Amino acid sequence: MAPERSLYSDEVMDHFLHPRNSGDLKDATLEIEQVNDVCGDNIVLAVRLEAGKIIDAAFRSLGCAVAVATASMVTEAIKGKTPEQAEESVEGVLRRVRKGTAEDKSHCSNMVEQVWKKTLAAIRALGKQAG
Ligand code: FES
Repeated sequence: MAPERSLYSDEVMDHFLHPRNSGDLKDATLEIEQVNDVCGDNIVLAVRLEAGKIIDAAFRSLGCAVAVATASMVTEAIKGKTPEQAEESVEGVLRRVRKGTAEDKSHCSNMVEQVWKKTLAAIRALGKQAG
């Protein structure tokens, strides 16, 4: 069921209705899953790394409109970026999502934030291994 338009910003609504980077990512370097403790939904974030950059990203989620929109915006924000650049961009995305959605949906964007933070930690760990 489509969410009620007035509850969401135009940007969030657009990413929910037209999610970017939804589906499997071929040759993913990392695939990280997060379950939402509040509702039981989940998300898998996949990234492909090359030369220290996130060259591609995709997500699969059984989450609601806010989760799908947030994941879509996050994947757009991290593609082509270094981990540091991506971290900054995602902070901006999360601020916009939280401004553009109802308070009681914060656990949905939190789930995406959690999977992103786990992914970022894994990217940094890989970078350390590569030396
Ligand atoms: Fe489960 Fe939003 S209701 S992620």
